[in-house]
Amino acid sequence: MKFDTRESPGPFLVAKNLCRTYGAGDSAVNVLKGLDLQVSTGEFLAVLGPSGCGKSTLLNVLGLMDTPDSGEVFFRGRRTSTLNEEERALLRNEGLGFIFQFDSLLPEFTILENVLMPARVSMARGGCHETLASAQERAMELLRGLGLESLRRRFPSQTSGGERQRASLCRALINRPSLLLADEPTGNLDKRNGERVFQDLKDLCERHGTAVVMVTHNEAACRWASRTVHMSDGLIEEGPRTS
Ligand SMILES: Nc1ncnc2c1ncn2[C@@H]1O[C@H](COP(=O)(O)OP(=O)(O)O)[C@@H](O)[C@H]1O
Ligand SMILES: [Mg+2]
Repeated sequence: MKFDTRESPGPFLVAKNLCRTYGAGDSAVNVLKGLDLQVSTGEFLAVLGPSGCGKSTLLNVLGLMDTPDSGEVFFRGRRTSTLNEEERALLRNEGLGFIFQFDSLLPEFTILENVLMPARVSMARGGCHETLASAQERAMELLRGLGLESLRRRFPSQTSGGERQRASLCRALINRPSLLLADEPTGNLDKRNGERVFQDLKDLCERHGTAVVMVTHNEAACRWASRTVHMSDGLIEEGPRTS
């Protein structure tokens, strides 16, 4: 089964009426309360909201890492709740890229091996027919583009936080996803390194036509986005903000 998430313009990601509650009874926490969201091909959307408002929960649901209690996520009009586990895994691996607050590079692999990992997973499951050599070339191109080429044989512990986060960005893009999900991607970096990650994120995604949904509590981070929406109390606020 193939997910062509790039074939036509228009919203390719639609979330409708998402509800997600953790726990039950007296200890239940209602996090998403009927949230609606649309993302268009190639746009860089920032979701801005205070800590604890449900941003990571939303991203986990959009990234098919968590299932909403009710509501739906559609990719290119396709209802994701009807996908089986294998189809969800395929969409996550080939259609989506992820980048988190703390880089999640695997410590026992080199930078190049880390960047290549999603491509290797894809090859191992037989979903893609490219050779390792061509994936390696693409990985090197991504690393070169961010000035990380000389670090390819180093282990993550031998690189700085900013370098690791930019390598995570290369890894997120290696399978040419149509959507990149970023959860406070520079939350762990100083201002200068954070800005470099944002600029690289914006440039790379523009060049590859990748849409981005970034969630953050940091208003300054939103200036790289092409659109910002506000999240509070489990919902995306409608319309422009006046205050
Ligand atoms: N696995 C969980 N079990 C119970 N409560 C959770 C869980 N994950 C998150 N929460 C709660 O849900 C709310 C939203 O969390 P989260 O989505 O992480 O917010 P944000 O990313 O905006 O800081 C918080 O009150 C948090 O404590
Ligand atoms: Mg969070």
